[in-house]
Amino acid sequence: MKTAVLIVLFALPAWPQAAAKANEGYKTKEGRDRVAATLSNPHRDETQKPDELVAALNLKPGMTVADIGTGVGYMLPYLSRAVGPAGKVFSEDIQTDFLDRAKTHASAEKLTNVQFFLGSETDPKLPPGSVDVALVLDTYHHFDYPGKMLANISHALKPGGRLVIVDYYKSSRPDHVRLERDDVAKEIESNGFHLLSQHDHIPKSQYMLTFDRP
Ligand SMILES: C[S@@+](CC[C@H](N)C(=O)[O-])C[C@H]1O[C@@H](n2cnc3c(N)ncnc32)[C@H](O)[C@@H]1O
Repeated sequence: MKTAVLIVLFALPAWPQAAAKANEGYKTKEGRDRVAATLSNPHRDETQKPDELVAALNLKPGMTVADIGTGVGYMLPYLSRAVGPAGKVFSEDIQTDFLDRAKTHASAEKLTNVQFFLGSETDPKLPPGSVDVALVLDTYHHFDYPGKMLANISHALKPGGRLVIVDYYKSSRPDHVRLERDDVAKEIESNGFHLLSQHDHIPKSQYMLTFDRP
């Protein structure tokens, strides 16, 4: 009996995967191809409103913005234009096939200020103290290890840098999204950030939370 309990205990992962459900469709190449098609849907601007999103980020020419969980690089042209030729966009993902698609997109759009980073589930692996604004769009609810990701994002921010989460209200995608907006804010604050502002990005669908580090 004791042996059976020990076997079960050792079979459990050392860290629970917070987003196991949201990440189900990402496990296979076929699943990711399906996600990629939705992320690059030509009608996505109507529901994602990327110009309004970038305006709310308050980016300035010369800044460095990180697109954490860049997917197929949908936001890259908007972010690239906002920081201009003197600025930088760090495009990061944990899936090489998404990152390859983001590279192809940036190249087709002739973006010259984008650098690409292959991160891990716990670390975006961005240069320390290098980022003015870290954007996490439709990705926070995919973090399996939010505490470790937040610590490493914090490490990548410049002093005074901001973390911006844009995500779905749980009520709009209850089976997919892990936490309500206010619980996301609490979780991030309990990991050393301070909530500066919150607003609806797309009413009843997506919110934006902006944090700095005290
Ligand atoms: C729904 S997609 C959103 C992609 C992109 N932000 C967009 O809105 O077009 C979620 C992305 O998060 C990535 N992802 C999941 N966990 C991650 C992690 N810990 N760090 C970075 N990216 C992650 C996935 O590979 C995927 O590209």
